[in-house]
Amino acid sequence: MIAEKRISLARIEKINADSIDDSLKAGAYNGLKKALTMNPEEMIEKFEKSGLRGRGGAGFPTGLKQKFTRSSCLDCEKYIICNADEGEPGTFKDRVIMERDPHMLIEGMIIAAYVIGASRGFIYIRGEYQRSIEVLQKAIEDSNKNGFLGENVLGSGFNFNLELRLGAGSYLCGEELTLLESLEGKRGYPRIKPPFPAQKGLWESPTLINNVETFSHLPAILNEGLDWYTSLGTEESKGTKIFTITGRVQKPGFYEMEMGCTLRELLFDIAGGMKDGYEFKGALLGGAAGTFVDESFLDIPLAYETLKARGATLGSGAILVLDQETDMPSLLHNLMDFFKHESCGKCVPCRVGTTMLTEMAAKLKNEPELIHKMTKEAHYMAETSLCPLGQSPILPLKSYREYYS
Ligand SMILES: Cc1cc2nc3c(=O)[nH]c(=O)nc-3n(C[C@H](O)[C@H](O)[C@H](O)COP(=O)(O)O)c2cc1C
Ligand code: SF4
Repeated sequence: MIAEKRISLARIEKINADSIDDSLKAGAYNGLKKALTMNPEEMIEKFEKSGLRGRGGAGFPTGLKQKFTRSSCLDCEKYIICNADEGEPGTFKDRVIMERDPHMLIEGMIIAAYVIGASRGFIYIRGEYQRSIEVLQKAIEDSNKNGFLGENVLGSGFNFNLELRLGAGSYLCGEELTLLESLEGKRGYPRIKPPFPAQKGLWESPTLINNVETFSHLPAILNEGLDWYTSLGTEESKGTKIFTITGRVQKPGFYEMEMGCTLRELLFDIAGGMKDGYEFKGALLGGAAGTFVDESFLDIPLAYETLKARGATLGSGAILVLDQETDMPSLLHNLMDFFKHESCGKCVPCRVGTTMLTEMAAKLKNEPELIHKMTKEAHYMAETSLCPLGQSPILPLKSYREYYS
């Protein structure tokens, strides 16, 4: 019988998140102590070999991003940012880490800062996450008092200061370049890339941006070693992933699983199967900017490469379970309305396109053939929009057309 495998969430039921002493007893900052005895280049190589990929949605190799940021300039000011905006509908994994084991995230960020040579970092967190903000604020203060943050970290000569910055609830501000604008105090409009943050990020300096869950894997890779980490997961998707399950299953919630587990194992063995009277019809994987799948996906390993081969995405790990009573046109309308609401309006294809898609989705129940026109419009949008938000509606639309029209 399959079971959860916890890395990011390894300590959550063993500690009081408000107590650094509890966290220290459970092994917090052991990875950092190891890191400070190592050469940053050697560590980057380790993280590259680990196969860890970003858990914010895009799955970019973490070690490679560290390498690009470090090598952008060796002596100039560099920054590190944790993306804790967590705006993708159905996603609440980062909140669990921040509220229940804040030192796991802070330790991961200090390790990454040491690796790239940054002396200042920020956690960009959504303003609605009041409890996460309180817990993190206290944890940062405790970490400073205990010498893990601030000047001369653990007597190593390395300095690193960490601060919280609050977002104002814009989905687009979770996109890394828009996040940078917001952090600089500007309106949340996206930047054109290139340059990428690793070259020119916060205040034009090289910046490493990673998701909360991504940072939380770094201490374990150093503590447990490469062989252990790479033994978990599949060929191209190493380690574990936190899935957040919503819908009519017996036990909705968050579960950290080894990459490559199947949807069937996750939903039926771990989440207890469907609620009485409901039948599994499919799922929306990865949130609003995700893909619909049907029951033919039940035995496909949940990994970047296997899902990609079937035109689906893992995204943030959100899984909305669909059943025989799910009103599919209404769900699609809801998603299109979300994109319309979150479009910043800067470019015409997305500003007008998201409005058109929402209007068409409202008629979909009575005119199901509209899905073809919607998909075509979304293709134009994807090709001509300025930023990834305008390229997102095509994902749920195309997969809806394939499996539910
Ligand atoms: C519209 C939009 C919203 C996003 N929101 C988030 C978010 O809330 N959290 C996050 O970590 N990444 C988000 N991303 C992805 C980030 O742009 C970026 O890829 C990520 O922070 C990189 O970290 P990683 O390599 O650790 O995944 C979003 C992307 C887009 C296009
Ligand atoms: S694609 Fe949408 S969200 Fe992105 S810049 Fe254009 S209008 Fe703004």
